[in-house]
Order: sequence, then C-alpha cells, then structure tokens
Amino acid sequence: MLVTGTTGFKGSWLAFWLQQLGAKVIGVSLKPERDAILFNNLELKKRIKQYFLDIRNFKKLNYIVKKEKPDIIFHLAAQSIVSESFKNPLSTFQTNVLGSTNILECYRINNISKLVFITSDKCYLNLDKNKNYKETDILGGLDNYSSSKASAELIFSSYFNSYFKNKDYLSTVSARAGNVIGGGDMKINRIVPDIIKSLFNNESLILRNPKATRPWQHVLEPLSGYLLLGHKILHKKLNNRLLPSWNFGPETKNCKSVGEISRKVINSWGKINHRIKIDKKNLYHESKLLSLNIQKAKKELKWQPRLDLKDTVKFTVDWYKNYLNDQDMVKFTKEQIQEYLDN
Ligand SMILES: NC(=O)c1ccc[n+]([C@@H]2O[C@H](COP(=O)([O-])OP(=O)(O)OC[C@H]3O[C@@H](n4cnc5c(N)ncnc54)[C@H](O)[C@@H]3O)[C@@H](O)[C@H]2O)c1
Repeated sequence: MLVTGTTGFKGSWLAFWLQQLGAKVIGVSLKPERDAILFNNLELKKRIKQYFLDIRNFKKLNYIVKKEKPDIIFHLAAQSIVSESFKNPLSTFQTNVLGSTNILECYRINNISKLVFITSDKCYLNLDKNKNYKETDILGGLDNYSSSKASAELIFSSYFNSYFKNKDYLSTVSARAGNVIGGGDMKINRIVPDIIKSLFNNESLILRNPKATRPWQHVLEPLSGYLLLGHKILHKKLNNRLLPSWNFGPETKNCKSVGEISRKVINSWGKINHRIKIDKKNLYHESKLLSLNIQKAKKELKWQPRLDLKDTVKFTVDWYKNYLNDQDMVKFTKEQIQEYLDN
C-alpha cells in the first residue's frame, strides 16, 4: 500500500495504523518538519518503506509508483494550512492541484487498481448558509486553500469519469473530512497545537476566529472511514451506482466554535484560568460555519463516528500529556487505537 503525506499529522497516524494491521506500507512525503513528533515517535522510518520526494515532480513520483506497484494508494500529501495558502498561493496550488493530478496520472498509467484520494470539507462552495454539505453539493472556494481542494476534487471527478467509471464496482474514491484533532499534531496555525504550545509555555492563547464553527473529530474517525473505504474497494464491495465521493464528519452536536473547543481542551488539561486573547488583525477569509452530512457513509459503509466531543478532547489531551511525560508513544498510540475500536 502506498500512503502519501506520511510525515504529516493524518498520514503518520494512518501509516502507523496500517502497519499495525500488518500492511506493508510505502510512504511518500517531504522530509519531516522540525516538530514532526508523530513520524519520529511512532518510529515510522523503520516501520515503513519511506521515500522523501516532492509530488510536484512527476518523473520521480512515477518512477516510485511504477517500481513499487502498490495494490492501493491513499493520497494525503498536501499543503494543508489555510494561512500558508495566503502567503504562498503558487506552491499551494502546485502541490494541492498539480501534485494531486500527478498522483492521478501515475495511478492511471501504471494501472494501479485502487485509490483513496483525500481532500477536505473545504472543497464545498461555502456561502455561510446554515446547512450540512452533502457529497452532491456544489464545489468551490472563496480562498486559496478551499479552491485548491475544490480543484483537486474537480480533476479527480474528471479522471474518474474519463477512465475509472465503467466497472461493476467502485475502485477509485475521494474522501472529504473536516477539522481533525488528535495527539501529535504540531503544525503552526492549527487550533490544538496552538493551545498545547500556549499551555506548555504558559503563554496566553491567541485566537483568530473564536466564533467560527467547525465539525471537530478525532483523527481516528476519518482514518477509520478511509480504511473502511480502502477495504471495501479492495474487496469489490461498492457498487458503481454509488457516486465516488464520501464525507466523514462528526455528529452535528460536535460542531462547536473555535472558542468553545479551546475552553474544552484547556479545561481537560486542568488549567481552567488559562488566558485567551483574540487576534483582531485577522486578515483573511475563513468561513463561519462548516458541517458535513454523513448519511451516505452511515448507510452505504455502515461507518459512524465512535467518539463524542468529550472523548475526542480527552483522547487528544491524553496523547500530548503522555508525550510530554516521556512515555513510550508507540505503546500508548497502539493502546489508544485499541481503545478507539472498543468504543
Ligand atoms: N488536519 C486537518 O484538520 C484536515 C482537515 C481536512 C482535510 N485535511 C487534509 O488531509 C490531508 C492530510 O492532512 P494533514 O493534517 O496530515 O496535513 P499535514 O500538513 O500535517 O501533512 C502534510 C503531508 O503532506 C506532505 N507534503 C506536503 N507537500 C508535499 C509535496 N509537495 N510533496 C510531497 N509531500 C508533500 C508533507 O510532507 C506531510 O507529510 C491533507 O490533504 C489535508 O488538506 C486535513
């Protein structure tokens, strides 16, 4: 199996989980960033066969895909930070749109038989209407990051309809998930890493958009959806009358504002008087409300979220606390995956 984005937050968890399930995992990503604590602490360099390469480089990517001939590709590599997409639009589009097109093309010309193509809930045209987005809703983006994800989905749709449609079963799918939290994410300008760093350094937490509402879910929730999709397409279990795109989000009651989730994380950490400040120099557009309709995944995949918001926050805070207390994170992460499955 080939996973792209294995040095990132979701890709590290996915590669680790797949390896625990007994899969031979081939990883493709850029070199780990300085604070990629998951890739290092989950010992992925020795658990998977890792290639450090840029997916914008078609020739090198194609060489690896041709050489490894994986039975399935999980594509997660992306420039995933909204603020970064404002600073560096060109490289964001190059990675998220052209890099993702390179993945589709390598998949096509090497006759790889299965693909799970991960994008984002931000691929939907969000006009701040109070609605849950369905897989059939219109794609679009009012900012660079959202447009890059909508564009990746449009190109996915074009490849799907041109090359991968006429089979009895689905083999090529895209997955759209919302705001993911969980242990080990250290990326700047993401809410949980920002909170953990401010708690650890005993500094006020700065929030940009405290009123923005997001569908918070633990990282294991969408990953369980991607794995289920992968399993079903590998075993030819999804009829081709189904559209290839799938939403994975929490129950509506998990949709809370950035301010509320921050308070919950702070309280769960045990520092209830920790100070929060609002950044009024908020320069770029972010949608106020975003939530996903997950009826299709529930009905067709029998997938459903396992953790309520309290456990989502607890799983997240427990991971960072154990990490900061120098615990064995391979053991802890294995146990947390098991605890998730027992829910
Ligand atoms: N984390 C979230 O809350 C969230 C929410 C919705 C969607 N997503 C999407 O899920 C996917 C994974 O997200 P994440 O949180 O793990 O992101 P991340 O930023 O933590 O990791 C990104 C990964 O992609 C790799 N990458 C980036 N540019 C690359 C390039 N040019 N060539 C090769 N590899 C490259 C990085 O090396 C890293 O391994 C992304 O597509 C992201 O947009 C994430």
